[in-house]
Amino acid sequence: MPVPYEKHKNYFMKIKVKSNYRCQSCGSVSPKWMGKCPDCGEWNTLVEEKESLSAGHPGRRLTEFSSSVTRLSQVKSEDFQRHITGIGEFDRILGGGVCAGSMVLLGGSPGIGKSTLMLQAAHRLAKGKDLVLYVSGEESLSQVKDRANRLQIKNEALLLLSETNLEKILEVVQQNKPKFFVLDSIQTVYKADLSGAPGSVGQIRECTAELLHLAKGLGITVFLLGHVTKEGDLAGPRVLEHIVDTVLYFETERQQVHRILRVFKNRFGPTNEIGVFEMTGQGLQEVSNPSVFFLGDHVNGLPPGTAALAAMEGTRPLLVEVQALVSRTLFGMPRRQMTGVDYNRAMILMAVLDKRCGFHLESQDVYVNITGGLQVREPAADLGIAAAMAGAYSEKAGQGKILWLGEVGLSGELRAVAQVSERLQEAGKLGFQKAIIPRMSQKGLRIPSGMEVQAVTTLLDALEKGGLKGF
Ligand code: TYD
Ligand code: MG
Repeated sequence: MPVPYEKHKNYFMKIKVKSNYRCQSCGSVSPKWMGKCPDCGEWNTLVEEKESLSAGHPGRRLTEFSSSVTRLSQVKSEDFQRHITGIGEFDRILGGGVCAGSMVLLGGSPGIGKSTLMLQAAHRLAKGKDLVLYVSGEESLSQVKDRANRLQIKNEALLLLSETNLEKILEVVQQNKPKFFVLDSIQTVYKADLSGAPGSVGQIRECTAELLHLAKGLGITVFLLGHVTKEGDLAGPRVLEHIVDTVLYFETERQQVHRILRVFKNRFGPTNEIGVFEMTGQGLQEVSNPSVFFLGDHVNGLPPGTAALAAMEGTRPLLVEVQALVSRTLFGMPRRQMTGVDYNRAMILMAVLDKRCGFHLESQDVYVNITGGLQVREPAADLGIAAAMAGAYSEKAGQGKILWLGEVGLSGELRAVAQVSERLQEAGKLGFQKAIIPRMSQKGLRIPSGMEVQAVTTLLDALEKGGLKGF
């Protein structure tokens, strides 16, 4: 016998829906977890969300802003207070110190130095009444103490806690009201009434939202530390990035001595800036002149197969060395291995070298590497990469210390690049006597004294001027 509608209705009214599952890809909501989103067809994107108990209040709000409509001219701009840590590179990439009341996410692969940098920064920030609460969910208090000893940190304003239960952490924050709060790491904390394991997207999202709520209420500056997955995503793919104010990532592999910290997002400063640090016996030390660090020691010029280029990292030019090795393929398919440069870009450059400049790389193994583990992605690096490959093929070294700058087009033409003056100034400081740049970038150029600048229109022309082509 069919059940009357009224009965149906009552039956459904009695069910208490506790959780919903929201797709992180398309945003559709489902009452139960599924491996595949029925709407967009993506796998593993459904994440648990607690439903708010009050009616008409869907999900957790990530910000608490609410204002009346105001004319732009009548909105008062506020000056954000900044806290200087004294770690120069760290302050600089944040835009001149840590912004008071902001939430900073520091990501990186395990062992790269997140806890080390954060403990150093916490020590600098903690003084007198400015308490810093450092919560470690990964290490015991004695392990943190061990690290502090290694960094020679003694600080009465630095409070430590080893805890993973979010409720307990929030309680401690409420009681102590620190000015700065560090959570190491976001993947280890959990909210007891949420079913997912610590580190799952749902847990990370909810825990961060809770912390944000509390921190903005009390005006606490929060640092969240997080691991990245093998693919380079912060575990809990991208869910945190839009919640927090600033995202910093350690970019290098831990095998490298130096560590590059890059700003991916910054509501209070520039993005894409990098800070360069060196891991020493006493923690991370800043490298204030990174160009020297990346360039290597070449007094009279660079050897065959190497070329110098200036990459813009945020607002700062950085001189780097690109090395190439070209050797005859012994059997089968030629090998192409690119480290630090974009593979597809390098393939295009090889094709242009072959077709437009007569460098026959089709039966050669080609290896390209940016020294120091830096990733160079800008088109302005094209000419440097092409020059390194051409030099490696012809076994010729450039005449003197040459800086190569320019984007290479498919017809072999050199295209203009931005901020050439800044790049030349940096090269001038490091004793470069010659620069080869696209003719289109010549306008309004400031040339450092003693530097000879050759403006060219094609890749072939550039290689000839640099002494890598022409017999
Ligand atoms: P750590 O900060 O624990 O990395 P993360 O928190 O990102 O996982 O430390 C990284 C590595 O640095 C570790 O292998 C030990 C090393 N280290 C030093 O070389 N010198 C030091 O002074 C410290 C504190 C650590
Ligand atoms: Mg750690």
